[in-house]
Amino acid sequence: MNPLAGADILDIPSLRKADIELVLEAARAFEARLATESLIPLLRGRVLTTLFYEPSTRTRLSFEAAMLKLGGNVLSVSDTSASSVAKGESLADTARTVAQYCDVLVIRHPQPGSAREAADAADVPVINAGDGSHNHPTQALLDLYTLAKECGKLDGLRIALVGDLKYGRTTHSLAQALVHYHVELLLVSPPELRMPAWVTEFLAQSGVPFREAQSLPEAMAEADVVYMTRIQRERFSDPTQYERLKGTYVLTPELMAQAPRRPIILHPLPRVDEISPAVDGFKEAAYFRQVRNGLYVRMALLALVLGAISGAKEVLG
Ligand code: NCD
Repeated sequence: MNPLAGADILDIPSLRKADIELVLEAARAFEARLATESLIPLLRGRVLTTLFYEPSTRTRLSFEAAMLKLGGNVLSVSDTSASSVAKGESLADTARTVAQYCDVLVIRHPQPGSAREAADAADVPVINAGDGSHNHPTQALLDLYTLAKECGKLDGLRIALVGDLKYGRTTHSLAQALVHYHVELLLVSPPELRMPAWVTEFLAQSGVPFREAQSLPEAMAEADVVYMTRIQRERFSDPTQYERLKGTYVLTPELMAQAPRRPIILHPLPRVDEISPAVDGFKEAAYFRQVRNGLYVRMALLALVLGAISGAKEVLG
């Protein structure tokens, strides 16, 4: 048995460093096996349901691909207007119902705390695939995996999180995950979109050195890794504020060329205009490699949560 068997994955602080390392090591093992095999049937007969109340490309498809690569099956509710939700069913009732048909439930919902609500109602493990502007723990795990792979280490890195730190749930979960490593954080945002206090207080309590700033060139000059994010249009109550802030940071080839030692560039995607497509050709542009890593990390999560493996050893067989 492993400590994640049967567990809900709702946020990063609920995981210990050992749990995080277990996921990353299993993910490395899945990556190694997928180099020569296309199916690793550890979850035959198991069913994953993805219940998505918000748009998604990567997160939903990578969970579904992960389940299929593990020999399991997938039920997918992505058009909630075609389900009983449209009749006014509560999230708790929907989650409890859906859990009768599956072994694990992955949920994305606009309300902060919604994944926990679903987990309280469902009697199968629930994985949070994004609850509004709050958390996105599985993205943070694949971001850690990518950092370690691209940089060869996590300890010692100086990492800039850039963009919409207020509403960007990926930055909240990533910042929380990085407290387990010896890193320095640079939090770069317009004043209106600063990192919320619940995250910076967590960083301060954990003893992580961090500094707030506003300039992308400063981040490019100082950091080993620059993690760009999209201004989260759907979270703004005032559309004029979005219009004013949307073009604040744009990473261009010129900015890349000016940086004295070029940082690795990450982005959870989707991007709007914050990274010029002309940056994609730089070897430091790692965001599409980051996408691929999501598959390995989600295979690891599903295999661990469903108790099919206890660690990387059984994956390598
Ligand atoms: C992110 C999300 O949904 O929070 N996307 C993702 O899961 N890769 C980032 C975003 O939407 O900007």
